[in-house]
Amino acid sequence: MRRGLYIHVPFCKQKCNYCDFSSFARQEKQIDSYLTALAREAVLYREIACQMLYVGGGTPSLLQEHQIYRLAKIIRKNFKPVSCFEESTFEANPESLTSEKIAVLRDIGFNRLSMGLQSFHDEELKLLGRVHTASQFVTAYKAARIGGFSNINVDLIAGLPKQSLEQFLESVQQLVALRPEHVSVYGLQIEEGTPFFEQGIVCDQPLMRSMLEETATVLENAGYHHYEISNFALPGYEAKHNSHYWKNGEYLGLGCAAASYRQGVRRQNTTRLNDYICCMENGKTPIVFSEKLSGKAQVGETLMLAFRQLDGVELTPEQEQLFGKEIEKHLKKGLLTRVDKKVKLSKEGLYLANEVFRSFVAPFEDV
Ligand SMILES: C[S@@+](CC[C@H](N)C(=O)[O-])C[C@H]1O[C@@H](n2cnc3c(N)ncnc32)[C@H](O)[C@@H]1O
Ligand code: SF4
Repeated sequence: MRRGLYIHVPFCKQKCNYCDFSSFARQEKQIDSYLTALAREAVLYREIACQMLYVGGGTPSLLQEHQIYRLAKIIRKNFKPVSCFEESTFEANPESLTSEKIAVLRDIGFNRLSMGLQSFHDEELKLLGRVHTASQFVTAYKAARIGGFSNINVDLIAGLPKQSLEQFLESVQQLVALRPEHVSVYGLQIEEGTPFFEQGIVCDQPLMRSMLEETATVLENAGYHHYEISNFALPGYEAKHNSHYWKNGEYLGLGCAAASYRQGVRRQNTTRLNDYICCMENGKTPIVFSEKLSGKAQVGETLMLAFRQLDGVELTPEQEQLFGKEIEKHLKKGLLTRVDKKVKLSKEGLYLANEVFRSFVAPFEDV
């Protein structure tokens, strides 16, 4: 069975104003204890076969060189060398990705880098609470190329406060000029508890939609394949780890806040850094949530993930039987469309995907 391995590194230099991911600023002194905890957790899942590796965060590139080597050793001892994974991604932020770290990552065998840029405008980066400039990103990106990375993803966020359509498209154009193999474009989400939420910032949804629509056109014209709601890739560079997730494949997550999906059971580790470290020190489980989806909920989850992929779904008889009415409703509304044997999100549905997805998540409404 194919399986992904996700390792969470929940440390950041500074917390961005929009981010509600499990990540902690100014906790670098905890990194060594965290790696010890990760080593203890990894032993519990030793030798489970995984083909794709994703080290995400937080900011994995905040680790120092010797800490990255230590992480690689944990992976090698319990699973296999990083170089033996089909795809091995390391997330990096521009301010902490140095040439030395790039050399270490290549030496270990990482073959894919995912870089958070968000915007090419320094005033927007400042507003977001990012600790890097656009030119620092370009320097780090070029260093990654020189260092041998031939598969790089870059993240952008559309719909920033006071951002115009032209300003956002400028960021997209500047990024396209660098020709990363993969681009992720997210619409800004205002998450409860973040500074943006507290400031009462609201997104201009029609403007954000225009940004996302025009971005898709620019990227498609530049040869990128729009294969998932937020993801674009040059041919052959679709992210394997993420695609496996959208196919509802199994994955094992290690670390604070990491989620796993194995044998039909979803599990989630504690999102509290100290609790995670303490649990692993004391031989206790860090898992705080576990559920086995079955029947209609399981089928709905598979469908919801599958519809994220733009080439759509060839419905099974079971999916037709359990969700035929809901699918018909969205076909009539024009949010889903039939193409040959498949059903997929329509152009309209792409921007109203959450409305479609609600039909596949319990409690199920009567149609
Ligand atoms: C898990 S984050 C970590 C990446 C890395 N630490 C960074 O910030 O560059 C992955 C991506 O999610 C996106 N993201 C995070 N919070 C978001 C939000 N509230 N709205 C839209 N996109 C968001 C950003 O593009 C970010 O690069
Ligand atoms: S967006 Fe990235 S760098 Fe910013 S706080 Fe979240 S994980 Fe950290």
